[in-house]
Amino acid sequence: MLKERTSQFAGEKVLVVDDEEVIVELTALLLRGRGFEVLTAYNGEECLSVVEKEQPALVLLDYMMPVMDGETALKKIIQRYPDTYVIMFTGKGSEEVAVRLMKAGAADYLQKPFVNSSLLERIDTVLQIRLVELANRELMREKDLLQREIEAWNTHLERRVEEKSQELELAHREILQAEKLAALGHISAGMAHEIRNPLNAINLFAQILSGAYADDPENSVYIKKISEEVERIDEILVKMLAASRGTAAPRSAVSLDLVAKKVLANSEVQSRSQQVEVDFVVEGEIPAIVADPTEVEQIFTNLVTNALFEMRNGGRLGVHLTPEEEYIRIEISDTGRGIPQEHLSQVFDPFFTTKEKGTGFGLSVVLRIVRGYGGLIKVESEVGRGTTFIVRLPVGEAVTK
Ligand SMILES: Nc1ncnc2c1ncn2[C@@H]1O[C@H](COP(=O)(O)OP(=O)(O)OP(=O)(O)O)[C@@H](O)[C@H]1O
Ligand SMILES: [Mg+2]
Repeated sequence: MLKERTSQFAGEKVLVVDDEEVIVELTALLLRGRGFEVLTAYNGEECLSVVEKEQPALVLLDYMMPVMDGETALKKIIQRYPDTYVIMFTGKGSEEVAVRLMKAGAADYLQKPFVNSSLLERIDTVLQIRLVELANRELMREKDLLQREIEAWNTHLERRVEEKSQELELAHREILQAEKLAALGHISAGMAHEIRNPLNAINLFAQILSGAYADDPENSVYIKKISEEVERIDEILVKMLAASRGTAAPRSAVSLDLVAKKVLANSEVQSRSQQVEVDFVVEGEIPAIVADPTEVEQIFTNLVTNALFEMRNGGRLGVHLTPEEEYIRIEISDTGRGIPQEHLSQVFDPFFTTKEKGTGFGLSVVLRIVRGYGGLIKVESEVGRGTTFIVRLPVGEAVTK
């Protein structure tokens, strides 16, 4: 007997809506017998307020009703309460209406008068479909959520890969620079020795000639030029040696502030004649580091020389020393022409120069020295505004001055 069988969806809320009281009552009785929690309403408007309050799983909705007809109520339910499913009751022979209602979102329809058993069957089927569809919707929601999470992860990963690639590229460039320096070391050590002997000889002969041509102004000029050029070659050799030499010199406690002061004093005449204002700032107490004083001086000399070269028509030279946790930060800035973007990766290369009389060793020497002490160097520059070199030298173990 149908009446006694409890539905597998017993406990679900079902709302019965019809303007005919008898139908509502009979249907309610039938459904309660199957274990459903039954709610009732007698027109479309009432139906909507019950749906809003109770959110039933299913509405059995009559098509023809006063106040608000079933079709209007159906459309509102579909639009506002997607989890509530609707089975429509229609009059006999109104297939067209039924098709329209199905298109509007009804889950099923039943022609009146209906047989109880087919109503119960339809209800179970629609509730079964609802169960699957709701689970499906939940899955889709989870899928969307997961997809968004994956997308976020992807973006994160892409960013990490990008960062790592940049780091790798930087490391690669540094290796290349180190290799260039190493190659330079081999060549220059041998070359310097071989070339300086004949150079000395040339210089010596030039001096002899300059004595012999003392009364001949024209030739004296040529001889002087020979000496100057020899001098220049010698300077280049000295710089080449400095750029490639290992840090084997004896080390002692070096006060960076004193070294900076000395280098600035040495360049004072040049700064003044170029109308360069010098801004020397030492923040707090700068601990001494263990280093070769000549090398530390070279860091300052080369950076200050480059900075002053860029400010032949005046400007501001900044030398700032700041103690950081494990490093001493040395910042040397100028208000010169700046370094074009395409040169930024090359300035530390030995031989790279944009100056007519430059050798391109200044910064490679600085780089070698800074690296030798486990320090870091970077450059920030904007064309037309100026350049800042930032060096960080490790403090190492505490040193008493
Ligand atoms: N402060 C700066 N402002 C603008 N450009 C700079 C600055 N410092 C370095 N450069 C650029 O980097 C190049 C390399 O500098 P580096 O000191 O290595 O060699 P150099 O100054 O050309 O020659 P030298 O061997 O005489 O120092 C310079 O020629 C210049 O183009
Ligand atoms: Mg230089």
